Amino acid sequence: MKGIILHGGHGTRLRPLTHTGPKQLLPIANKPMSQYALEDLREAGITEIGIIIGDVYPEKVQEFYGDGSKFGVKITYIFQDKPKGISHAIRLCKEFIGTDRFIVYLGDNILRKGLVDYTKKFQSSKSDAMILLCEVDEPSRFGIAELDKTNSGKIKKIMEKPKEPQSNLAVIGVYFLTPKIFDIIDKLKPSWRGELEITEALQLLMENGNTIEYDTVTGWWKDTGTPEDILHANQLILDTIGTQNQFVLSEGSQVKGNIVLGKNSTISRDSFITGPAIIGDNCNVGPAVRIGPHVSIGNNCSLKYCDVENSILMDDCSIDTKIQISDSIIAHGSQITNNHQAKKHQFLLGERSQVKL
Ligand code: G1P
Repeated sequence: MKGIILHGGHGTRLRPLTHTGPKQLLPIANKPMSQYALEDLREAGITEIGIIIGDVYPEKVQEFYGDGSKFGVKITYIFQDKPKGISHAIRLCKEFIGTDRFIVYLGDNILRKGLVDYTKKFQSSKSDAMILLCEVDEPSRFGIAELDKTNSGKIKKIMEKPKEPQSNLAVIGVYFLTPKIFDIIDKLKPSWRGELEITEALQLLMENGNTIEYDTVTGWWKDTGTPEDILHANQLILDTIGTQNQFVLSEGSQVKGNIVLGKNSTISRDSFITGPAIIGDNCNVGPAVRIGPHVSIGNNCSLKYCDVENSILMDDCSIDTKIQISDSIIAHGSQITNNHQAKKHQFLLGERSQVKL
């Protein structure tokens, strides 16, 4: 089997974070979100992976993943000139896929449980596609599957973001497919949002007499379309990171809960870290810093006097002021300084932002 990771799209709901890179490279617990997809595929035994790159800094994706050898996989890049839909992206992979069965993984989806069991199930089945369903609170935000009540185990209908959903079962962004899908995609017309929809391809696949199996997601699944989704995904991943116990603390400092601290990073005087939290390499935390819970701090950051909870700080950031920050995403190279006492603040800062309070 082969794998495809979708790494295009404009990520408009994540601006300004996506003005300087593709959304799928935004870090969740200090790892680009698409790396979770790649590792899920690898864990399921899939090492031939096509990455669809779009027109938002595709070179950053190529620079990060290279030929895949660092990650134990072989990567082929496939270029999609504009975000014309998931089905359009899949169609571009016809040659790469050849006659193999394959998995398409949207690079902005994170699935807690991984793919091993689902992949085994699809490999041993004769069905023409398999989708994964997850109950959601806002079904009109997703592709939705309606099950056949008279024939259990069968899907009746698959629709893209219906205004009046007849089910709360979202079709998540991991699709198990066979090359049959390519001819089906050739018959599709662009939807109201100008895209070739994967849900319409699946519906047409069924209408043409093919079988689609489904499984339900156990554990959690997250589509990270908005800043709130990213922070929630960060919480969910941090809740699973485990801990390291061997770091040296300066006087007056304390840690509680699960903390991962990178190489050459220090926690200095009167600082208090509450896990779960992750701090990257070469960071200076302190004096008088409070971090956590649910905070991810990238590499080469310097934090003094601040209080940060439920937030993501990317690499090379510095905060040098007595400030309370929560529910924030602060991109690479940003700096926050202050001359006055401050209240609680919330930020969504693009790369190299500077805030003087
Ligand atoms: C896409 C699919 C949708 C699916 C969702 C999962 O939506 O079109 O069917 O439920 O991914 O993340 P989009 O993210 O393009 O709005």
